[in-house]
Amino acid sequence: MMLQCSRAERRPTSEAAIVQVTFTTRDGDRIEAAGEPGDTLLGAGQAAGMPLEGTCEGQMACSTCHVIVAHDWFDRLAPTSEEEEDMLDLAADVRATSRLSCQIVLDEALDGLEVAIPGESHDMRTR
Ligand code: FES
Repeated sequence: MMLQCSRAERRPTSEAAIVQVTFTTRDGDRIEAAGEPGDTLLGAGQAAGMPLEGTCEGQMACSTCHVIVAHDWFDRLAPTSEEEEDMLDLAADVRATSRLSCQIVLDEALDGLEVAIPGESHDMRTR
């Protein structure tokens, strides 16, 4: 049996939830990015052209996805895991609100999230 959605049941793309995120670049430019709930902040940043390599593809083995979260937003994120803390200990230009963007999953509550690209990043896999 084949299931079909009626036209009324389909959700037009324009009504799909979009999570807006603002990245501040190393030069101080503010770049708007967007993702859908379930996307990672890393993916949204890469799609917007941010210099987030994400070399290990979210395996918490590189820290090339490091971002600095705006203070107002930091406590609204899901807690940092021990593994993420360990990797951030090895990252460059770490701040009190540093996170790995591959570990931040966007949802509607994060609409308006603001993060900054750190001054430098290291790929910890090459140490
Ligand atoms: S992509 Fe490597 S730690 Fe996030």
